[in-house]
Amino acid sequence: MQGKKRIGPPGLVHIIPLDRKRKKAHDTAAHKNTDRSDPAGKRVEDLKRNDEQLFYRALAELEQNPLVRRMDGFTQHRGNATLGHCRAVAVFSFRMAQRLGWDIDEKALATGAMLHDYYLYNRKKERIGGVRHLCNHPALALRNAERVAVLGRKERNIIRSHMWPMTPLQLPRCREAWLVTLADKYCAAREFSRGKRRKGPAV
Ligand SMILES: [Fe+2]
Ligand SMILES: [Fe+2]
Repeated sequence: MQGKKRIGPPGLVHIIPLDRKRKKAHDTAAHKNTDRSDPAGKRVEDLKRNDEQLFYRALAELEQNPLVRRMDGFTQHRGNATLGHCRAVAVFSFRMAQRLGWDIDEKALATGAMLHDYYLYNRKKERIGGVRHLCNHPALALRNAERVAVLGRKERNIIRSHMWPMTPLQLPRCREAWLVTLADKYCAAREFSRGKRRKGPAV
């Protein structure tokens, strides 16, 4: 007990732990309150849900646009429809952002991801070489996308850089673009490994 000064009668020693126990119980209750029942905690949850709503609403609007739906008539990655691929990339990018806790522009992510392959041709039917297609289709997709949606700096960067590092000068310059370039590679690899699917790939 060296270094600790005991003040008052010995009985006080038993009172201190009791106070600590009460304080601990109070702290635990306070912690529980901030979890789900606390109004402030609920507001955080609502905010998260609203972000998802914003993303999926923007995605649904694009999917219902007949000009965007034209991608359903074109295939890539073992015959998978381009529309389903773009949707899978958008959803996977958003889930990655949620998992990483990244604050993102939901609308820019939905638009950029949904239009990242809006080049509107079948590479094999048009007999376009693999390397030429890999390097050139982002620029064409961007030109086409500008005709169907209002694109900001982020959306343009998402579309233009999604093939990086195949296009070394087109570097992803925002979180949304990094998410899409990674999600695109993951989804393409998954589509190649699974083969053709009748419906868009489940994510
Ligand atoms: Fe692409
Ligand atoms: Fe893609």
